Amino acid sequence: MQPPLKLFTMQLCTLLTLVVSLVAAAQLPLVQAQRIGDVDGDRALHAGLPPHIFQQMGQYSPRYLVGHDSQMAPPGCKVDVVSTLERHGARHFTDGALKRAKATVTKLQASLKTAQRVPPEMAFILDAQLQKETSSLVPYGALQAWYSGKTAAATYPELARSTPFVRGSGDVASGNDRVILTARYWRLGFEGHPFPTGNISTSDQVRNAPNLPQTDLDISELPGKNNTLDVSTCTAENNLPASQGEDGAQARYGNSTVLPTIGARLQEVLQRAGAGAVNLTYTDVLNIGNLCSFETLGRASVVDGQLRLDGGRISPWCGIFRDNEWSIYGYANDAGKYYGAGYGNPFFKALGEGWIRELFARFESRLPAPGASLNSTLDGSSATFPVPDHTRVFFDGTHDNNIGPIAAAFGLFDGPKLSTDFHAERAPHRWVFSQIGPLQGKITFEKLSCAGSRSPYLRVRANGAVQSPRGASWCPRPDARAAQGLCAVDVVHKALAFVNSNEEWAKCDA
Ligand SMILES: *[C@@H]1O[C@H](CO)[C@@H](O)[C@H](O)[C@H]1NC(C)=O
Ligand SMILES: *[C@@H]1O[C@H](CO)[C@@H](O)[C@H](O)[C@H]1NC(C)=O
Ligand SMILES: *[C@@H]1O[C@H](CO)[C@@H](O)[C@H](O)[C@H]1NC(C)=O
Ligand SMILES: *[C@@H]1O[C@H](CO)[C@@H](O)[C@H](O)[C@H]1NC(C)=O
Ligand SMILES: *[C@@H]1O[C@H](CO)[C@@H](O)[C@H](O)[C@H]1NC(C)=O
Repeated sequence: MQPPLKLFTMQLCTLLTLVVSLVAAAQLPLVQAQRIGDVDGDRALHAGLPPHIFQQMGQYSPRYLVGHDSQMAPPGCKVDVVSTLERHGARHFTDGALKRAKATVTKLQASLKTAQRVPPEMAFILDAQLQKETSSLVPYGALQAWYSGKTAAATYPELARSTPFVRGSGDVASGNDRVILTARYWRLGFEGHPFPTGNISTSDQVRNAPNLPQTDLDISELPGKNNTLDVSTCTAENNLPASQGEDGAQARYGNSTVLPTIGARLQEVLQRAGAGAVNLTYTDVLNIGNLCSFETLGRASVVDGQLRLDGGRISPWCGIFRDNEWSIYGYANDAGKYYGAGYGNPFFKALGEGWIRELFARFESRLPAPGASLNSTLDGSSATFPVPDHTRVFFDGTHDNNIGPIAAAFGLFDGPKLSTDFHAERAPHRWVFSQIGPLQGKITFEKLSCAGSRSPYLRVRANGAVQSPRGASWCPRPDARAAQGLCAVDVVHKALAFVNSNEEWAKCDA
C-alpha cells in the first residue's frame, strides 16, 4: 500500500504531466513543421531520389527519416547522456561486389550488342562505364555524416557544449577509412563547422578536405582484434557455411521470387528485343538494383555544401526495374541481413553484446567488465573509455553487419521470422533493413531524467523513429512513461543482463 500522501503527490504529478503533455501536444505540430524534413539533412539528401526506389534498398538505401520525428525529450524530461551508433555514409562498392556488378554489365552488353531493337531504357548499357574506386566514403556519404552531427548538436543543445567522445573503426594505413572519415565529418557538423567548400566529387577530396577534426579513438579491424564496432573474432560464426547466412537467404528468395518475377520479365524484354542468348540469374537482377544505388550516390558531388546529382538526376540503372519491383529487391536485402546479421544468425547475441555492455557502462558511469568482443586495454582506461559526467555525448562509427546484431541483441525490430518463400515480401515483417542499418543509419540511445522519477530512463530512436517499449522484450515492466517511448534504465539492464556474462560469447569457441 502506498502512503496516502505519496499517492496524492503521484496523482498530482500525473495530472501535471497530463496538462503539460496536452499543451506540448498542441505545440508539437508547429515545432515539427519547422524541423521535419530537415532532420539529419533529410530534405537536402533526398532531393531528387524517389522514395519508392531509394527507401526500398535495404542496406543500400541512404538513411531517411522513419515515421515522424520525435527527437525532443518528452515534457518534464531531459536527455543527460547520448550514445549514438552510426553506420558509415555512402561508399563505393566493395572489391567483390564491384567484380560481380561488372560481370552482370558485361553479360548484358554482350547480349544487347546483337539486339535488333534495343529497349530505350537499356540503351545506355551498351557503353556504360562503372566507377573504378572501391570501398571508400563518397562525397554524398560525407555530407550525410556532417548533417547527422549537425542535427545531433541541434537536438541536444545543452550537451553540444560538452566535448563528445568520437570512436571510429578501421585502419587508415591500409585505406580502410570509411568509418573513420564518417566519424570525422560527424564531428565537423557537431562542432558547428560548415561543410568544406568547393566541388568535392571524389573520395580523395573527401579524405583530404582541410581542417577535418580528428576522432578520439580508432579501433582496428585487422584480424584478431577485439572490436565492439566490428566484431570479427567469433570463430564459430566465421565458420558458418555461407548457405546458412546472408548468401543462402538471398539464393533461396532469389530462386523463389526474384528470378521468376523481375528476372523473367527482363529475360522476356531481352528476348523480344532480339538480343543475344542470355540466362539472367537472381544475382544479375540484384546487381542491377545495387547499381542504381551505387551509381547514383557514388557519382554525386557536393558543391559548397550542396548536393549535386550527376547530370542532375538519378542513374539510368534505376530505370530498369518497374516501380512495383523495388519491394522485391529491397526484401532480398532485408532477408539477407536477417539471416546474416540479425535474428536469423545463431550468434547474434554474441556479436551484439559487447557494444551493449559498453552502453550500460556509459549509462551507469563505470568501466565495462572485460570479455566478449571488448578490448580490455581500451575499455579498462578512462582515457580511452571515458564515462559521464566527464563525457556525455558518444559517437560510435560502425558497419551494417554490426548494427544488425546489436539491434537484435537489444531486442529491436523483433517480429515474424523472414520467410524466403514466393512473394514473402508481402507478409508483414518488422525487420526492414533500410530502417535499421542503411547508409549513415543511426540508432541513438538516450539516457533521460524526468521530474518526479528517481530512476533514469532510456529511449531508443532508430533513424528518427522512437522504438516503443510496449510489448518489447527489452522493457518487460513498462511504466506510465512507456507511452513516451521511455523505459527505466535498470529495467532494461535487467532484461538484457546476458550482456554482462560471457555465456553467449562462449558459443563462439564451439
Ligand atoms: C564538380 O566536379 C565534377 C568532377 O570534375 C564535375 O563532373 C561536376 O560537373 C562539377 N560540378 C560543378 C557544379 O562544377
Ligand atoms: C587492444 O588495444 C590495444 C591498444 O589499441 C592494441 O594494441 C591491442 O592489439 C588490442 N588487442 C586486441 C586483442 O584487440
Ligand atoms: C536455385 O535454383 C537452382 C536451379 O534450379 C538450383 O540449382 C539451386 O540449388 C537453387 N538454390 C537454392 C538455394 O534454392
Ligand atoms: C541458358 O540455359 C539453357 C538451359 O540450361 C542452356 O541450354 C543455354 O545454353 C543457356 N544459354 C546461355 C547463353 O548460357
Ligand atoms: C579479446 O577477447 C577475448 C575473448 O573474450 C579475451 O579472451 C581477450 O582477453 C580479449 N583481449 C583483450 C585485450 O581484451
